[in-house]
Amino acid sequence: MSDPKQYTRAEVEAQNKPEVTLFVIHNKVYNVTPFLDEHPGGHEVLVGVGGTDASEDFDDIGHSVDARDIMKKYLVGEIVESERVEKTKRSVKWDDVKHDGGSGLFSTWRVPLLAALVASLVYLYLT
Ligand code: HEM
Repeated sequence: MSDPKQYTRAEVEAQNKPEVTLFVIHNKVYNVTPFLDEHPGGHEVLVGVGGTDASEDFDDIGHSVDARDIMKKYLVGEIVESERVEKTKRSVKWDDVKHDGGSGLFSTWRVPLLAALVASLVYLYLT
């Protein structure tokens, strides 16, 4: 197979037209024009992201393995090496989780623990 066609992001934007829907997902370029009416999510969303990098929109939907398989059919090239971006990881980082709960007395897990302790003391006191 020949090397995939190289596109700059400006070229993707320029070649996206009302009659041709072209966008970028994870540094690959897709021409989904023939797929617009078949897309289960509707053609408006695809036309809406035409000419742009739709990686986040695509990932946000949580597309199935089937969808990822279908998209191979519409692959027309890739973004030139100098304009590629690392796949953005939007998953929650452990650091965020750690700091989110806060370290105060009333951080989420301590509340039920304290409640249980108080309840046991009350129980002991009353019996
Ligand atoms: C070549 C690219 C794409 C292909 C092949 C594709 C394919 C599919 C398929 C097969 C589904 C059905 C559900 C599933 O199997 O996951 C779907 C649903 C959907 N897609 Fe896409 N999709 C593409 C790009 C996009 C993009 C870029 C967006 C957003 C801008 C999008 C938005 C949606 C939405 C909103 C749904 C409906 C989800 C629901 O009803 O729960 N898709 N797509």
